[in-house]
Amino acid sequence: MKFNFSLLLLFLFLSISLLQLTSAACHADDEAALLAFKSGITQDPSGLLSSWKSGTDCCTWAGINCLVNNRVTSLSLVGQPDKPNTFLTGTISSTLVKLKYLDGIYLQNLKNLSGKFPDFLFGFSNLKYIYIEHNKLSGQIPANIGNLTQLEALSLSGNQFTGIIPSSITKLIQLTQLNLDKMGKLKNLTLLSLDHNQLTGTIPNNFSSFTNLRILRLSFNKLSGNIPSSISLLAPKLQYLELGHNALSGKIPDFLGKFQALDTLDLSRNKFSGTLPKSFGNLTKIFNLDLSYNSLNDPFPVMNVKGIESLDLSYNNFHLKQIPKWVISSPIIYSLKLAKCGLQLNLSEFQPAETYFYDYIDLSGNEISGSPVGLLNRTDYLVGFLASGNKLKFDLESLRIVKTLKTLDLSRNLVYGKVPKGVSGLEKLNVSYNHLCGQIPANKFAASAFVGNDCLCGSPLPPCK
Ligand SMILES: *[C@@H]1O[C@H](CO)[C@@H](O)[C@H](O)[C@H]1NC(C)=O
Ligand SMILES: *[C@@H]1O[C@H](CO)[C@@H](O)[C@H](O)[C@H]1NC(C)=O
Ligand SMILES: *[C@@H]1O[C@H](CO)[C@@H](O)[C@H](O)[C@H]1NC(C)=O
Ligand SMILES: *[C@@H]1O[C@H](CO)[C@@H](O)[C@H](O)[C@H]1NC(C)=O
Ligand SMILES: *[C@@H]1O[C@H](CO)[C@@H](O)[C@H](O)[C@H]1NC(C)=O
Ligand SMILES: *[C@@H]1O[C@H](CO)[C@@H](O)[C@H](O)[C@H]1NC(C)=O
Ligand SMILES: *[C@@H]1O[C@H](CO)[C@@H](O)[C@H](O)[C@H]1NC(C)=O
Ligand SMILES: *[C@@H]1O[C@H](CO)[C@@H](O)[C@H](O)[C@H]1NC(C)=O
Repeated sequence: MKFNFSLLLLFLFLSISLLQLTSAACHADDEAALLAFKSGITQDPSGLLSSWKSGTDCCTWAGINCLVNNRVTSLSLVGQPDKPNTFLTGTISSTLVKLKYLDGIYLQNLKNLSGKFPDFLFGFSNLKYIYIEHNKLSGQIPANIGNLTQLEALSLSGNQFTGIIPSSITKLIQLTQLNLDKMGKLKNLTLLSLDHNQLTGTIPNNFSSFTNLRILRLSFNKLSGNIPSSISLLAPKLQYLELGHNALSGKIPDFLGKFQALDTLDLSRNKFSGTLPKSFGNLTKIFNLDLSYNSLNDPFPVMNVKGIESLDLSYNNFHLKQIPKWVISSPIIYSLKLAKCGLQLNLSEFQPAETYFYDYIDLSGNEISGSPVGLLNRTDYLVGFLASGNKLKFDLESLRIVKTLKTLDLSRNLVYGKVPKGVSGLEKLNVSYNHLCGQIPANKFAASAFVGNDCLCGSPLPPCK
């Protein structure tokens, strides 16, 4: 009798595949690793881990994905920022290193995970995504962080890391011709976020070219020194450069104009000084520009941008006189903050090309005359209007107060008339130091919101006679 060997093979193959399908259960190592993680958690009030039960298939547990041979490929536990009880207290068990096939670890917004940087992450060779954000991890970022060369995204935002940014971190970002030839492996870190920590020292200055980095977030730390020159090598692809809320100083470098793909530039609340380079005008794709709270001087360069979405130049040493044309003509602007920018215009004559998207306008501390009545008549979704310390002169009762408005600050102007009923629904109001008169409608605001007027009366000021 002839034995049909290939048929037997086919049979064997089919039954093995069938066996795998029917007994789909996670690998014992993966289950052990995840249960060890769970036992490191002491509080889980919203039950993020309630489906993690020994003896059940861990691939079905909340936050677990198994995409390769029933092995765990991603661990994703995400708390909601607006739900304070979605948090986990505890530390990240190093037993997780048994998840050999892990490709991404996402522990986001769990608020109360603590401990040091999880060193076991160095033990993975397939790990591409690390998002350990908005927790309470502390200590230093390891000096050898640059060893994680296979990473495509690293975010440690919103923790309590201290110490310096290890210079080896630039190894994650570089993609040199040499690497290409020698290893035949492209390194594609596209996101590096270390914002909202307590990092000190300077920004490392050995970034290399041919990089794929699109997002660099270092804001809300305590970094000092200049913007290093090697950052210019990130120019071709970088879209988000966020360095705000640090102690960086020096001039804004000329090379920033080379960042042709830049969408968002945040340099706010640092100690930058001097004038902006003319090359700034070449940032044709910039949508969000925040330079507020520095010591930058005139002149502000002419920008060749097609449309700006949000602009904040407040609290520098600018004397813009007029709102720049490229701002007025923007078809997509929603946030305009030009407080203390030396504006000397008549607001009645401000005719922006678009008013539909505006949700925030701050023109405080300028020499603006005229009236905002026409402008606010056309901003249907405005949330905040701040214009204290100007020379605005108009009847407050003719100001349209849209349903979306939450903040209105007109203090220290020349506003007259009565306080309209419509203000009672606002969250913040300040009409102090104007020429208002008459009874204040029922409201919840402090007296300092109304003082310094000609003849306002009624709560919270003394009663009317
Ligand atoms: C966070 O953890 C600490 C102990 O580490 C604990 O006292 C606290 O209750 C936890 N929960 C929150 C919401 O902070
Ligand atoms: C990091 O890389 C260096 C050099 O490649 C090596 O000597 C070191 O052992 C590595 N460290 C870790 C924690 O992998
Ligand atoms: C950057 O410089 C530091 C020392 O200054 C060095 O340890 C690190 O390896 C360098 N990184 C790269 C990518 O060359
Ligand atoms: C890196 O990106 C390039 C294109 O930008 C792509 O061809 C390559 O596959 C990526 N490499 C990895 C390891 O993802
Ligand atoms: C803007 O870019 C063009 C072409 O890339 C270049 O010729 C010009 O010098 C740049 N302008 C400034 C002010 O850097
Ligand atoms: C502002 O402009 C309006 C409209 O053009 C005009 O009626 C008004 O007198 C101007 N106000 C001042 C202070 O120049
Ligand atoms: C406000 O808009 C309405 C129409 O939407 C118009 O009738 C009115 O004259 C406008 N008022 C001012 C002061 O522009
Ligand atoms: C209102 O504005 C004045 C002057 O600008 C300020 O002193 C006061 O604290 C403000 N009050 C409120 C309630 O914002």
